[in-house]
Amino acid sequence: MFTKLSLKIGFLFFACILLIESLLFYTLYATLVNDRVDEVMESLLARGETHSAVLAMSFKKETMEHVGMMEAASSFSVIVTDEKGQVLIHSDPIEPEMKTVMDNTDFASMPADGQVIEAHWSEKKYIASDSPVMKEGDHFGHVFMFSDTEGIARMVDNLQKQFFWAGVITVALTVVTILGLSRLITLPLIKMKKATEQLSLGHHQVDLMIDRNDELGELAAAITKLSKDLDQLKKTRHEFLGSISHELRTPLTYIKGYSDILNRPGLSEKEKEKYATIIQEETTRLTSFIQELFELAKMDQHEFHILKKEESLDELIESATNLVSASFAREGKSLLVSGKKNIQVMIDMERMQQVLLNLLDNARKYSQAGFSTSINVLERGNEVVIQVKDEGIGIPKNEIPFIFDRLYRVEKSRSRESGGFGIGLSIAKEIVEAHGGLLEIQSETGVGTEAIVRLKRKEDWNV
Ligand SMILES: Nc1ncnc2c1ncn2[C@@H]1O[C@H](COP(=O)(O)OP(=O)(O)OP(=O)(O)O)[C@@H](O)[C@H]1O
Ligand SMILES: [Mg+2]
Repeated sequence: MFTKLSLKIGFLFFACILLIESLLFYTLYATLVNDRVDEVMESLLARGETHSAVLAMSFKKETMEHVGMMEAASSFSVIVTDEKGQVLIHSDPIEPEMKTVMDNTDFASMPADGQVIEAHWSEKKYIASDSPVMKEGDHFGHVFMFSDTEGIARMVDNLQKQFFWAGVITVALTVVTILGLSRLITLPLIKMKKATEQLSLGHHQVDLMIDRNDELGELAAAITKLSKDLDQLKKTRHEFLGSISHELRTPLTYIKGYSDILNRPGLSEKEKEKYATIIQEETTRLTSFIQELFELAKMDQHEFHILKKEESLDELIESATNLVSASFAREGKSLLVSGKKNIQVMIDMERMQQVLLNLLDNARKYSQAGFSTSINVLERGNEVVIQVKDEGIGIPKNEIPFIFDRLYRVEKSRSRESGGFGIGLSIAKEIVEAHGGLLEIQSETGVGTEAIVRLKRKEDWNV
């Protein structure tokens, strides 16, 4: 029934407020009625007391008649009796109800200052009080005062009517207020719901423009940010797919072209060998590209596991340098290792080796023959730092922020010559970060590049 949030909130509020209002109204009503009834009773008793005081001074026929005359003109009735209950005078005709009240009165035990002897205003026709006439401890008679309960009933009836209308107006105002309030709360939610529907339909540019700084405002800002992120993701994916197809197309064009040539008649063995080598190189390039893409896909699927073990940093560096030293030597570039020895680190050996190989590969690829690359290890505060520094061509300042992006290469044609895909650094960064470390690149064109791997020190592992 209550599928709408505004209705749910509204109904809940309404129920709570109605309960509170009913309680307050009832308390107020009961207090008012009681006070008014008490007032009537007190005035009845006070009147009886006055008469009994007068009669105590002069318990004579004339005084009694005077009292009777006074009350005949008022809305009350008075009956004066002797000490045994024998009626002496009465202001109005004695009705059976009055008689019953008097018959049930215990004349002897009546307190000297009188008391209310019939208070059931809602059931009885009269409320009544009895004030004994006393003089010097002697007991002469009784002044019975009666008041019609109709007046009280009318007053209570009036009060009930007033309360009823006040209640109706309060409920109406409550409903209007709650409707307004719940709309105020749910309207932005409805807007957000529509926005997210738009998002799932692929319209990634929503701007909720909800100008409030409460939780709803935060939610709106989060959705707007999500839409921008999605939009960015869509663009990146587009560019990524574009780059991949471009990357695949180029070697495939070579392979196709050279295999066509290979099929031509009259080629010399030497030519055949040359073309076959090109095809082989391009196939190798394609294979490694697909391998790297596969790595990226695994990272995105979170199927990429880091198994950290206590390892020697010297061993890591040695194994990496052993693998690349031959290619450095072949190209006339030197590789130097320096810095602190005997450091133990908690790493996934294979993965960290992949990082170092990539950094060293970059250093080699992007520097000319005759220049050297150095690996330096140092401990700084809580960190172990591995610096891979080259004296190569460097990276322009404005390109540095993008080099960790997938398939980003500074100079497309140049890095194709050197065989890069622009994936290595993005994989390396993810691996280092998965170790809880950081990978930074500092570079200056024409001076060289420094890649810095910052890992947590061994002592911190279990912290
Ligand atoms: N040491 C360096 N000196 C100069 N430029 C560099 C260096 N390292 C990286 N770059 C630039 O950053 C780009 C991205 O590097 P990255 O390692 O991600 O890709 P890549 O080396 O081109 O290809 P691969 O995917 O094979 O590693 C490179 O294409 C290159 O332009
Ligand atoms: Mg690289």
